[in-house]
Amino acid sequence: MQKRTTKSDQDLKSDDLQKHTVDNEGKFMTTNQGLRINDDQNSLTAGDRGPTLLEDFHLREKITHFDHERIPERIVHARGSGAHGYFELTESLTEYTKAKFLQTPGTRTPVFARFSTVAGSRGSTDLARDVRGFAVKFYTQEGNYDLVGNNMPIFFIQDALKFPDLIHAVKPEPNNEMPQAASAHDTFWDFVSLTPETMHNVMWLMSDRAIPRSLRMMEGFGIHTYRFVNSNNKSVFVRFHWKPVLGVHSVVWDEAQKISGNDPDFHRRDLYEAIDNGHPAQWDFGVQIVEEKDEHKFKFDLLDPTKLIPEELVPVKIVGRMTLNRNPDNFFAETEQVAFHPGHVVSGIDFSNDPLLQGRLFSYTDTQLIRLGGPNFHEIPINRPIAPVHNNQRDGYMRQTINPGQSSYHPNSTGDGHPHQAKAADGGFVSYHERIDAHKIRSRSKSFMDHFSQPAMFYHSQSEAEKNHIVDAFRFELGKVKQEAIRQRMVSLLTKIDKSLAERVAAGLGLKIQKPDAITNHSYPADADPKSYQSIEADPDIPKSEALSMENTVKDTIQSRQIAILAADGVDDNSLDTMQAALQKEGAMTKIVSVRLGNIKTAAGKLVKIDDSLLTAASVLFDAVYVPSGEKSVSALSAHPKTAGFVADAYKHCKAIAASGEGKNLLMVVDELADQGKAQKADQGILIDKSPKDFVKAIAQHRFWIREKKKEKE
Ligand code: HEM
Repeated sequence: MQKRTTKSDQDLKSDDLQKHTVDNEGKFMTTNQGLRINDDQNSLTAGDRGPTLLEDFHLREKITHFDHERIPERIVHARGSGAHGYFELTESLTEYTKAKFLQTPGTRTPVFARFSTVAGSRGSTDLARDVRGFAVKFYTQEGNYDLVGNNMPIFFIQDALKFPDLIHAVKPEPNNEMPQAASAHDTFWDFVSLTPETMHNVMWLMSDRAIPRSLRMMEGFGIHTYRFVNSNNKSVFVRFHWKPVLGVHSVVWDEAQKISGNDPDFHRRDLYEAIDNGHPAQWDFGVQIVEEKDEHKFKFDLLDPTKLIPEELVPVKIVGRMTLNRNPDNFFAETEQVAFHPGHVVSGIDFSNDPLLQGRLFSYTDTQLIRLGGPNFHEIPINRPIAPVHNNQRDGYMRQTINPGQSSYHPNSTGDGHPHQAKAADGGFVSYHERIDAHKIRSRSKSFMDHFSQPAMFYHSQSEAEKNHIVDAFRFELGKVKQEAIRQRMVSLLTKIDKSLAERVAAGLGLKIQKPDAITNHSYPADADPKSYQSIEADPDIPKSEALSMENTVKDTIQSRQIAILAADGVDDNSLDTMQAALQKEGAMTKIVSVRLGNIKTAAGKLVKIDDSLLTAASVLFDAVYVPSGEKSVSALSAHPKTAGFVADAYKHCKAIAASGEGKNLLMVVDELADQGKAQKADQGILIDKSPKDFVKAIAQHRFWIREKKKEKE
């Protein structure tokens, strides 16, 4: 049996961070020089009403520090939330890689993960329609390994040279800095409509994947093909996957917009509160392995980051699990100052020649030099490896390490030759000896030119509801585009993916589909023959892939789901207590929402604390709604102007709704439910006088899209 390691690696990073955590309890307030402060209320002035004196070093130190508190936000992925935890290997990868943390099942490696939106500023809403960053720093015994991915398995562009163009197009427009955290504007769609390689990621962006229910309920992907290298220097290609244990779930667009108003920190709060309430966020870690000999066996190019490897072709092998179970102590010190980099690898993990990845390998350190103010940001506690660091790098802004001795070069005899290089057998990193024999060129490989087959595969793999949401998203986004020529170009491009999709989007925009330009790809060099950059037509026989639809995800748990219980004075004790206990037993978080704050007096005279009033809560912040019995309670709620909207939104957003006894009267505010009178609609997630068990099952379904189907037909 293989040896199981203890928790000590994880503890090591925690200890490391603890060393830098200041405990103020029982301590005197001091200046940054350690001088005890006697008066932190008044500046030093000449007399009662006189001028402030320049001599006041405490005032100057405090204000100066404050004046310099802000650092530049990330140029992309500025808005993010992070958490600590650990990665535990469940299956050995020795056959493929020599990376030490991937050898022995049971090995735990401390991690810090940061999830982000891409386009918005640091203070923008969590629920923007956007790709989500999914970055994980593994503090391994052999140094830090960063897996810097997204929640979508592909990217917009194929070459890093186009990244500044893509980001300029999606960020607020330069003349008026609008709109914030939104792709729904002319410049984004202008760029997209002229660059067909973006279409695959655009399809994902228009799907509900771009508006996750929770950061804990989204997938993560390394996107690029990387290499594993084993101890015999044999290499395989690998793509990385994170699969959320709670399943992949999203909200709908109307809900996302309302959440942005009600709680712009919705995802940050969800992650923080779940961990705080003892619900760690968990993902299974999977790999898709492709032998070197199979590099060219697919219809797409493994080096093309706009293509995924369908799981039907190469299954995802689950080899570990990540658990995030500790919130940062200080947002700035940890979440803001963390610096990820796809080039932070360990022996046994190497790069492919994906041209997007190759450009990224330059970009991250470069940007962090300015964002974090100099070359020593690896010394910030959150970025420090647990593996010891020894080299001859010296000095620079904010150097923390005190390197003793005379020697800061290699080779040296003044320091007895230390630090010395490590042999491969001792963990020294050796780049994979890939043979390269080629001309130096600027060109796009012909094997990258199929821009439509996989977007078509994605679209065809979606459920009816998911397809409808994609159509609606295109209509919304292009509806915000002012220039008709851009809209027109976009619907023409969509015909290359799916004619009915293009027709439905065009109908919503009041457009007629025109023949696409002969050359739809405007992304070609000045001297190139444009035809050689023309997209290949979509493969009409491309099969569907079940893994691409969220309909096929995990739907057997209500762990950490938020359930609103609408109740007021006079609520029936039994129906409140039974349901609350049943939901909490399944790991859900219940909140009592009422007409005001304070306590409710139940029918039996018990006092129950109210969590939220209808003024501060909205049903978009919950996964399901329950209305317990009690005539007095229901009539007080019915009289409140916000109750009807609360229930109507929960219905409109297809959430599970349950009511007991008189509670059902509150549901009659929804026209569709009033029409049906007392009708049970269990198949639609409307449960009247049903058991808590049925409600639990309904919430686990996440949504009842069948309600939308009815609307769509109308
Ligand atoms: C597959 C494509 C890409 C993925 C999955 C990706 C992912 C990410 C993620 C997750 C972050 C946020 C890291 C954090 O939480 O701190 C990030 C930041 C960043 N990315 Fe990328 N990115 C991609 C492509 C690129 C390219 C092509 C470039 C440039 C050539 C680039 C440049 C940057 C920069 C400059 C940052 C800010 C880093 C910082 O300030 O610390 N990215 N990226």
